[in-house]
Amino acid sequence: MMNRIKNHFTKEHIKKKQILNKEKKYIRHENETIRLNVLMLCHSLEKGCGISNVKKGYGKEKALNLIKNLLALKKLNADNSFEYLEGIAVLKAYIQYQNSQNEDISEIEKQSQKLNLDSVNKVYQGGYRIIPREEMERGKNCDFETMVKSRHSLRSASDEPIDRELFFKAVSLANFAPSACNRQPCKVYCSFDKEQNQRIEKLVPGNKSFAGEIPYYCIVTAERDFFPAGETLQWYLNGGIYVSYLTLSLHSLGIGSCIFQWPDFYENEETLREIAGIKKSEAIMSIIGFGKYPESTKYICAQRREPEQVINEF
Ligand SMILES: Cc1cc2nc3c(=O)[nH]c(=O)nc-3n(C[C@H](O)[C@H](O)[C@H](O)COP(=O)(O)O)c2cc1C
Repeated sequence: MMNRIKNHFTKEHIKKKQILNKEKKYIRHENETIRLNVLMLCHSLEKGCGISNVKKGYGKEKALNLIKNLLALKKLNADNSFEYLEGIAVLKAYIQYQNSQNEDISEIEKQSQKLNLDSVNKVYQGGYRIIPREEMERGKNCDFETMVKSRHSLRSASDEPIDRELFFKAVSLANFAPSACNRQPCKVYCSFDKEQNQRIEKLVPGNKSFAGEIPYYCIVTAERDFFPAGETLQWYLNGGIYVSYLTLSLHSLGIGSCIFQWPDFYENEETLREIAGIKKSEAIMSIIGFGKYPESTKYICAQRREPEQVINEF
């Protein structure tokens, strides 16, 4: 028994503990707590009215708490931030909903006057919408099978330049990726400058056998500060989903890509952070190499498992 326990604490295990401790160390900056509060409260208030059986008078304390956090953001001059604008939109939708239910929310309305709800310069969508089934089923019209089966990791791209606008379009599509409480913790670092991309290329461990064949690199990160205690490492799940959406979005616009591994404790991490300006609180999900498809290219067959080899019915 002792031996079994002793063997369990291998070098590998100790390394994993070190990684975990390193990951925990970054949690959390004061200002980011306010942003996180706003995002969590927004999600809770939206979800409260976006379900079939809405609890009568739900969310009053949360709405007051949201107002408090929005005032704190305003004080920090963050009233142009996503979190602030999203908070205002959700608060307005909440007030409208509770008024439609003849609910007494006079204290919330009184407190919200401090925010000047109608003076925000950018109007976001908040609350819920009712969608008919035909609209939900529109996904069936898109040829997803062709989409996923025609995507292959690209290890030799054309050197054709990619328009900034096209890449921004891909990111705007990838931003539809689901994330925990809609916190959207991912960021994409990129450059359209050849030399900057060459600098990033040199830092990537998994591209040495095809160096010089991928013109662009972007780095996907996830903000650890957006995850409360009890959600340590969830940034990797959110980041993984985002990376998937981004590679498929790029492919939908005629841009090929290859996801690259970023090992833990990797010696090039400091340099990468410095070149791209990545904050310490952001965890690096992956570097994605991308470029236009060449006239013809090799791709590896990468045979996929059968569903029976993946599904465990119970
Ligand atoms: C997290 C992750 C890390 C990867 N790292 C590398 C890498 O370092 N170098 C590389 O050439 N490909 C890398 N790939 C690409 C995989 O090899 C590829 O996705 C897999 O073999 C399936 O092939 P396909 O993408 O062409 O369908 C990576 C993919 C993922 C998802």
